This record gives sequence, structure tokens and C-alpha cells, in this order.
Amino acid sequence: MNSVPPISIIGISGSTRRGSFNSALLRAAASSMPQGGELRIESIASIPLYNGDEEAARGIPEAVARLKDAIAEADGLLLVSPEYNNSFPGVAKNGIDWLSRPPADIARVFSGKPVAIAGASPGGFGTLLSQNAWLPVFKTLGAELWSGGRLLVSRAGSVFDANGEIQDPRVRENVRSFVAGFVAYVSARKRPVDARIAGEQRGLPPARR
Ligand code: FNR
Repeated sequence: MNSVPPISIIGISGSTRRGSFNSALLRAAASSMPQGGELRIESIASIPLYNGDEEAARGIPEAVARLKDAIAEADGLLLVSPEYNNSFPGVAKNGIDWLSRPPADIARVFSGKPVAIAGASPGGFGTLLSQNAWLPVFKTLGAELWSGGRLLVSRAGSVFDANGEIQDPRVRENVRSFVAGFVAYVSARKRPVDARIAGEQRGLPPARR
């Protein structure tokens, strides 16, 4: 019997659109998780627009507090974000901004947290510029950005069917290898001793483990 708890990843879509390609990609990531990993999808849909007066008067909204706790407790965060005007959507940034309040709580939620960024776009560049735009945000929050893989789904209109399922087997494989890479990274950070032993068992020299 394996009593090791799974690597837990919180997944957030940067789109609240019903037929969102990015939410569909996030669902595909959740169902492609390797053994020993689990991805729980959370939402930014009920997070209000940030307003400092509201925060001063009423504190942190319940939806924000819950999501902060979920991220703090998870081993990693996967953000699947659209690209708007060659950057991230304001809706998604608003969610992350709320999650960074109050500043004294940033370390609990984000510090050293492994973060992977992915995205889907109907255009030809698969959210490349959005993904780049997110980098300074998570760097500022002290998160540990994973750069070991890229998941840029372009021409999303022909990749997903009407139910949001991925039609193209190559894209399915990209999703699978992306989440496998991220989970392996998170796992190695969480359990460096296990990773070292696994490396020894595979006969890898120390530098490659
Ligand atoms: C877009 N879209 C878009 N796509 C892209 O690849 N680069 C871009 O710069 C933009 N800019 C942009 C601005 C605004 C205001 C909107 C509404 C849309 C198109 C975008 O990728 C498309 O609407 C996706 O379907 C949005 O993601 P979801 O909602 O399908 O996940």
C-alpha cells in the first residue's frame, strides 16, 4: 500500500467564459495528471473587482480567502490564461491581485510555490505574450516559476470540439507531458530525498538526479 500523499495542484482558468478554451485546456490537464498527482480546479468567477476602499471596509472577500487557503495548502499552482491585447486578461490579473492581499499574507500563499503557466488562443501564437506577461507578476510574489515545459495551444478553434474535448492527439500528448513535467518538478522539490533515491535506483549520476 502506498501511503505517500499525492502531489496536489490547484488549477485556475484565467477565463470565466462558458465555452472558454482555457478552461477546457485546464480540464484536459486535470484528466491527464500522472499517477501520484491530482489537480483540483478552482475558479476566479466570484471574485469581485479589487477596490481598496472595499478591502478597508470589509476585508478579504470569502471567495478570495478560500482560494488563498487552497493555494497555500497545495503543492503547486497551474494557471491557464488567455491572452488579451498581447498580455494577460484584466479579469485574471484582478483575481491574482486579490490573492496577494494583504501583503503580509503573500509569503503564506505564494512564497516558493511552484507555478506553471499555460494557455490557449484561437490565434497562431498560443498565448505566448500572455505567458511572458505573467512572469514578473509571479516573480514579484516570490513564487517558483516552472520553466521546464511550455504549453501554448494555438488555433484553439480547431483543437477543441464543441464539448471542449481536445481533438488533436498531438495536443493531448503535449498536455500530458506538460503536466507530467510539472508534477515531477513539484514532487522533486517536495521530496528531494525520494527523488535522490529514485535517481539512484535508475542508476543516474548525482548531477542528473
Ligand atoms: C482577445 N484575443 C486575443 N488572442 C490572442 O491570441 N492575442 C491577443 O492579444 C488577443 N487579444 C484579445 C483581446 C480581447 C479584449 C479579447 C476579448 C480577446 C482572443 C482570445 O484569445 C479569445 O477570445 C479566447 O477565446 C479567449 O480565451 P477563452 O475565453 O476562450 O479561454
